[in-house]
Amino acid sequence: MIELSKVMKAGLAIAAVVFSGSIFADSKQGEPLQLAQLTDGFDAQAAYMRTCFACHNSGAGGAPNPNKPEEWTARLEKGMDAVMNNVMNGVNAMPAKGLCFDCTPEDLRAVVDYMVSIAQSQ
Ligand code: HEC
Repeated sequence: MIELSKVMKAGLAIAAVVFSGSIFADSKQGEPLQLAQLTDGFDAQAAYMRTCFACHNSGAGGAPNPNKPEEWTARLEKGMDAVMNNVMNGVNAMPAKGLCFDCTPEDLRAVVDYMVSIAQSQ
């Protein structure tokens, strides 16, 4: 039994390496194309929960909360290009790319659209 569990652990470790390696390879291959593409299998909601939620759902540092539409009105009035510029480069306590460094600009746009869709559904 001990031997078997060792083998299984090794197998899992290898699978994890292969799996993370393949994600890395995919995003690298996608880069030179840059044709307004989402990363394969990109999930805006999952990315939001993983990367943006901590600041944005708590309002840390003045981060606009998707559950508070009034916090979005003025921001959206300046236009989506200006908003995305702030997302890509950071503004005040908002870090560049919202700390999602493996997100493409299109991925980030999808996350912002997700946040705005929540704000607009309130
Ligand atoms: C470390 C905290 C933090 C994280 C992580 C973070 N944000 Fe922010 N974000 C902020 C703060 C603070 C602001 C308000 C900045 C200001 O206008 O002063 C902000 C503002 C924004 C805005 C409005 C920009 C504008 O022009 O008004 C958008 C959109 C946004 N964040 C998207 C995201 C996305 C998408 C992610 C995740 C990929 C993310 N943020 C992650 C703190 C964060």
